[in-house]
Amino acid sequence: MPRVKGRPPGTVPIELALVGFGHVGRRFARLLDERRDALARDHGLAPRIVGIATGRHGAAFDPRGLDVARALALVESGGRLDALHDRRSGPPPRTGLGLIAQHARHRRPAVARVVVETTTLDVRRGRPAIDHVRAGLRSGAHVITANKGPAALAYRPLRALAESAGRAFLFEGAVMDGIPIFNLVRHTLPAVRVVGFRGVINATTNHILTAMEAGQPYDEALAAMQAAGIAEADPSLDVDGWDAAAKTATSSRRRSRACGSSESRRPTRRSTWTAGTARQRRRRSPMS
Ligand SMILES: NC(=O)c1ccc[n+]([C@@H]2O[C@H](COP(=O)([O-])OP(=O)(O)OC[C@H]3O[C@@H](n4cnc5c(N)ncnc54)[C@H](OP(=O)(O)O)[C@@H]3O)[C@@H](O)[C@H]2O)c1
Repeated sequence: MPRVKGRPPGTVPIELALVGFGHVGRRFARLLDERRDALARDHGLAPRIVGIATGRHGAAFDPRGLDVARALALVESGGRLDALHDRRSGPPPRTGLGLIAQHARHRRPAVARVVVETTTLDVRRGRPAIDHVRAGLRSGAHVITANKGPAALAYRPLRALAESAGRAFLFEGAVMDGIPIFNLVRHTLPAVRVVGFRGVINATTNHILTAMEAGQPYDEALAAMQAAGIAEADPSLDVDGWDAAAKTATSSRRRSRACGSSESRRPTRRSTWTAGTARQRRRRSPMS
């Protein structure tokens, strides 16, 4: 996966700045490389990763495109990305906001810029993801985030900002990963009023419930999801229902009316079902 040199004729160049390079960001980078030919052939797109910012692994920007294979190897071996930074572009960015600003300073005509935001979820304040989305839109970039915070806690102001800037604010991956629930409602159910939904909307919880049903201890089931990179960095966000509450807020139309332009609405009403609850339920209802 070397640095991408040139682009196929007739394709549209897109420069990506990745803010967050954990399980999701790194998988996205690998997928982009695996699908490079199909993206050019079927969609006329030539994406190139020019910047990556992390929390503890440094950051790098290179307008010629980063060597993504080296970035993956560095981060996965606990190293820092600063070694990949192009010094002619200034000092390495120190934060996600720094990367977004540096990317904007190096904007090129007729090249779309996209900020891909995949930082750790902060379910109470949505930060720094909300700041990254806002800065990206203000800088004239399109923004895509897998983080639930921005859509759950600041949907209306961010959507308004995106509309006034003529840029996209997309968050389909924030809920149910590859399953297009927002696009399903937006594009294929325009006359339908969605009044509710039911389901297990947290993959970690879904796995734990299935595993516990089969007799596996709770701790082991949770550890498997942590090892697979699917549990949140703080797994209490999964098992205490915060992730599901944020997804519900993200998915709810009532949320967009009730939020107004404030960022103050918090997903707070939850009830949790953990190992203790499962034992209690089994004692109360041994046949179930
Ligand atoms: N994992 C999933 O299956 C999944 C599915 C859908 C949505 N999501 C959402 O996607 C997001 C990322 O999930 P993940 O599993 O990739 O998490 P992760 O593995 O913990 O990665 C988080 C990344 O964000 C970086 N980061 C943290 N704070 C930062 C900051 N202030 N500035 C810049 N970078 C920062 C971390 O850098 P360091 O490692 O250097 O600290 C790391 O690269 C979360 O919001 C999650 O809810 C996850």
